[in-house]
Amino acid sequence: MPEPEFREEGLLGFAPGPEGGVSLRLDGGMAAVTIARDGSVRLRAAAGALPPDAGEAVGFAPFAPSTAEPFALDDGGVGLSFSGPEGAARVEVDPDPFALRVRDRAGHVLASLSGLGFAPDGRARVALAAPVGQRFHGFGEKTGPFDQRGRVLRMRNRDQHVRPEIDPLYASIPFFLSLSPPTPLGDESVATGVFLDAPAPSRFDLAASDRTRVVMETAAGGIDLTIFPGPRPADVLRRFTARVGRTPVPPLWALGHHQSRWSYGSEAEVRALAREIRRRGIPTDVIHLDIDYMDGFRVFRFDPRRFPQPGRLLRELAAQGFRVVTIIDPGVKVDPEWDVFREGVARGFFCRERAGALPALRVWPGDAALPDFNRAEVRAWWGGLHRPLVEAGVAGIWNDMNEPAGWTKDVRLGRFLLPFRPQDLSRTEQAPAIGGDARVPHEHVRNLYGQQHSRATREGLEALRPEQRPFVLSRSGYAGIQRHAALWTGDTWSTFAQLRLSVRMLLQLSVSGVAFCGADIGGFAGICSPELFARWMQIGALYPFARTHAMWLKGRQEPWSFGPRIEAIARAALGLRMRLMPYLYGLFHEAAASGEPVWRPLFYAFPDDPDAARIDDQLMLGPSLLVAPVLDRGARRREVYLPEGTWIALDDGARYAGPRRIEVSAPLERLPIFARGGAVVPMRSAVQHAGEAPAEPLVLAVFPGGDSAGVLIEDDGETTAHLRGAMARTPLRVRDRAGGRLRLELGAREGGFAIAPRPARVVFHAAGRPRAVLLDALPLEEAAGAPGYERRDGRVEVRFEDDGGARSIELEPAP
Ligand code: GLC
Repeated sequence: MPEPEFREEGLLGFAPGPEGGVSLRLDGGMAAVTIARDGSVRLRAAAGALPPDAGEAVGFAPFAPSTAEPFALDDGGVGLSFSGPEGAARVEVDPDPFALRVRDRAGHVLASLSGLGFAPDGRARVALAAPVGQRFHGFGEKTGPFDQRGRVLRMRNRDQHVRPEIDPLYASIPFFLSLSPPTPLGDESVATGVFLDAPAPSRFDLAASDRTRVVMETAAGGIDLTIFPGPRPADVLRRFTARVGRTPVPPLWALGHHQSRWSYGSEAEVRALAREIRRRGIPTDVIHLDIDYMDGFRVFRFDPRRFPQPGRLLRELAAQGFRVVTIIDPGVKVDPEWDVFREGVARGFFCRERAGALPALRVWPGDAALPDFNRAEVRAWWGGLHRPLVEAGVAGIWNDMNEPAGWTKDVRLGRFLLPFRPQDLSRTEQAPAIGGDARVPHEHVRNLYGQQHSRATREGLEALRPEQRPFVLSRSGYAGIQRHAALWTGDTWSTFAQLRLSVRMLLQLSVSGVAFCGADIGGFAGICSPELFARWMQIGALYPFARTHAMWLKGRQEPWSFGPRIEAIARAALGLRMRLMPYLYGLFHEAAASGEPVWRPLFYAFPDDPDAARIDDQLMLGPSLLVAPVLDRGARRREVYLPEGTWIALDDGARYAGPRRIEVSAPLERLPIFARGGAVVPMRSAVQHAGEAPAEPLVLAVFPGGDSAGVLIEDDGETTAHLRGAMARTPLRVRDRAGGRLRLELGAREGGFAIAPRPARVVFHAAGRPRAVLLDALPLEEAAGAPGYERRDGRVEVRFEDDGGARSIELEPAP
């Protein structure tokens, strides 16, 4: 990318400060380098004065500076160094041309920056050395290969349906994991995080033009780049999400299955859908109402003819265990008769063009105005507008079209609408994210629009229902979108290629901080075949966010729309999700506490395994389950890579020793899943929805072949009381001793959430025929009932009453 208009910078002088860092005077601008207490290193640079730090205004945690102070280096450069309990870093700045190296505690170079430069048109750029074999993952919502090395990626949010190589899409997260290669000789992989905080469009040339460098360029706002040390991917994500925010624990119901369609368009249709879901026993928690519930696409307003009594409808649905999520797009119909539009105009809450006019934006309602969500008062206003929906009983909000989408012209043929020419909002001004009365062009903060929209929604729901955890779903987003909303990947096509792509995209999103993510199960557009729906449902039921959704132009896409065989597959897949709910819920608690994703690439869990590094069609669901979905049409077998350790097939108990590749049979009914030896997976019996009391509230599946220590977290699943300590924690420990003695220990339950005594079942998988089964060191009878144990299909099932006290359950192998 030879771009002569970029002048490469040199260092003219330095001065101590800001706190934890140094200010640098450059030939053509200013820079500041700071080390945070957690060892992350931030470089800010601009052609003029440094712009004010916008991070906190968009909801990031304050940057926590260390006590590092600059010192001069022999060659005329500057050094900074810090070491503390949370992290350490050493920085060296070379004077001419400007270059910067970040080293870890041991002195290894984590990041080597060069090529800092500014162009007269406001662009800024900086380059990162890309050693041979270095891999790049993350970047948020991206198509293409798993390792993005060799690609050029753009960050500019836009309404663009998913195609295999298309870029950019709806959400931009300018963050990636840079991974040094593990080698067969045992060199460990080192993970480093790179975050280019640029709400303006940016561009990443990932060693495409120059094989030795990643060149990062922003369209405006200078450079604000943070290097997060690892050494493990989990360490990087912990630090990155500590800054941009983590996924708050969702309400349990939001982890159930969501059924959606554009649109369930009347009360009668919604009632019939709910009836059918329950009659057929398809586990489902949520029904989504897409745009046609609205009155002429006016947000916050039900159509009085098709939805005359929404409150009554939602109460009826609640009695059957359903929650309802309604879509709310940002575009406010230009309708001078309507109070929401009038108020927005009167109070100056909409984005305006430079000359003062509302931009000519067309969306579903026709001409629409866009609220300026960067202003706190606009967000508060918008949040409050949700009151009628909340009062009617709406449980969550789906924020769509918030890139923002819009077009200049369209043709409407009845319900059919052909949008033409995307609207170019570049002339539009918008108040800045921070400070003063100055207005900034829309383009400079474009990538924040959807995020701030969802933030307004979330804050609104929190204010209207302070005791309830909100659920918000967003299409667009920026780094940190997870604080406000779950994210889905927008408009996909019903093809096997896109099913496969969804797995890769969700893994990239997962390592970009977005733990709560999903893709439309079955695909949004195009024709979904029965086989595709079955395969999509099998893996979709294990997406962190599991929603079936389809556009109106295509055939029905309810779980029973493809005949009884596929319906049974969907029922089983969603049944498994419901049985795994305690495990899944625990993963969300972990995501909230430490930024660990729910879906993890194999390289995340096995960073030093060179074979695991390339695998993009398998994933770890949390630490314990390896999932190998079938992603090819007609496939009835697939190859599975099992990393080091013992692996036990969840369904038939077959036991394998990794690392190795195996071929497994995968008839249409089967999704290959393997548990890691030594794991304990909290489960429960299947229910139809989250609020239904399971017949067996506590089932602990234990797998031989290793040791583990974890904790089962339980709370009321719905309110914010968990934030005030109303949470029960049960330590769980598995020990697989020499000679095959397998032992599960439950620690005494701790915490401020009371659980009444309940029946419990421990299922030892691949257990064979034990000589004895001990409960708290006393032998148990082989008998039905509690306490007692039974043998079933190679498993040993132990029943007892769980009263919150410490317990141990042990299998003594046959001699
Ligand atoms: C957009 C959304 C899609 C939705 C449709 C109508 O295309 O991505 O999910 O169904 O708009 O609201």
